[in-house]
Amino acid sequence: MYLLHILSGRMLYKGMLMEITGSNILPLLLGSVGIIVLYKLLQRMKQRAYIQDTVVVITGASSGLGKECAKLFHSVGARLVLCGRDRQKLEELVQELTGGADGKRKTHTPNVVTFDLRDVDAMADRAEEIVGCFGQVDILINNAGISHRGTILDTDVSVDRDVMNINYFGPIALTKAILPSMVQRKSGHIVTISSIQGKIAIPFRSAYGASKHATQAFFDCLRAEVEQFGILVTVISPGYIRTNLSVNAVTGDGSKYGVMDKNTAEGWDPQDVAKAILTAVSRKKKDVVLAGMMPTLAVYLRTLLPCAFFPIMAARARKERKVKKN
Ligand SMILES: NC(=O)c1ccc[n+]([C@@H]2O[C@H](COP(=O)([O-])OP(=O)(O)OC[C@H]3O[C@@H](n4cnc5c(N)ncnc54)[C@H](OP(=O)(O)O)[C@@H]3O)[C@@H](O)[C@H]2O)c1
Ligand SMILES: *[C@@H]1O[C@H](CO)[C@@H](O)[C@H](O)[C@H]1NC(C)=O
Repeated sequence: MYLLHILSGRMLYKGMLMEITGSNILPLLLGSVGIIVLYKLLQRMKQRAYIQDTVVVITGASSGLGKECAKLFHSVGARLVLCGRDRQKLEELVQELTGGADGKRKTHTPNVVTFDLRDVDAMADRAEEIVGCFGQVDILINNAGISHRGTILDTDVSVDRDVMNINYFGPIALTKAILPSMVQRKSGHIVTISSIQGKIAIPFRSAYGASKHATQAFFDCLRAEVEQFGILVTVISPGYIRTNLSVNAVTGDGSKYGVMDKNTAEGWDPQDVAKAILTAVSRKKKDVVLAGMMPTLAVYLRTLLPCAFFPIMAARARKERKVKKN
């Protein structure tokens, strides 16, 4: 009854507008809006169908982007395995997720597996634990990571190694350990959250950029190698996201940076990025850049016109160093 009321109200409104414009552009416009809305609705249904009841592993689920991904994938019916170092934080998230069930859709209680990605050699055992949670892994989302702030001159090699362990060796060890079970089932989807800094290098983040470039290369190789087994690989490269990544970053001596960078604070909402990841994953995209026009242009510039890209980065380094000195 209420709906009818609204509908007739809308119709009236439409009629009035048509009288005003006196043309048939409006029905055409409304028709196309209707088609777009229907298309979006179908897309969403398809997305949900792809995720419903699948086993999704998310590393770094305790905060930032990983946490938002956990909420979103849980809401569309995934069977989650949440990973991080802090069991308490992850258990709290499980409480939050299961407490908020609205009963409209079938959701599953997530499992928790904790590890430090620095323990590269422990990944085989952790992978076994992860696969054991639901008996299989359908989607692995390598999201956990740490950033770096500091000049190359002042960054100890031990810091480079630490960042590489967390962002590169840990995730690839975990991936390798889960992979055989996917090959056996001839099905699986590996998603990696890289960064726009996996495609272009920005000064004073050398360890981070290097680890993300390595990540891009590894998962590009993997995609080619496992396609024959029906396994998909998606690399996501976001620009700045409003998370604690810069706060949690390490400096040249290994201490915590502890600062919320302006770029990060003004970055994309992690909830929006999580939605874009769900879309990319359910559309089985291979490589996705989630950034504004300037960073996206910079990626092309680095490839097509490096002689223009390098001076821009050198100027950026000069400017940032000046800011630091003042
Ligand atoms: N924020 C951005 O601007 C941005 C841009 C592009 C790409 N990304 C990428 O997005 C991903 C998520 O980062 P975020 O922005 O959400 O930052 P965040 O809030 O700092 O989250 C990082 C996550 O990684 C986990 N983690 C850190 N060190 C770990 C270790 N040694 N072992 C296991 N887990 C560890 C943390 O869990 P615990 O501390 O509980 O262990 C936390 O859940 C990262 O790969 C990052 O590179 C971020
Ligand atoms: C950042 O860290 C603070 C303090 O630990 C926490 O309250 C906040 O929720 C975190 N933000 C995100 C986006 O994870």
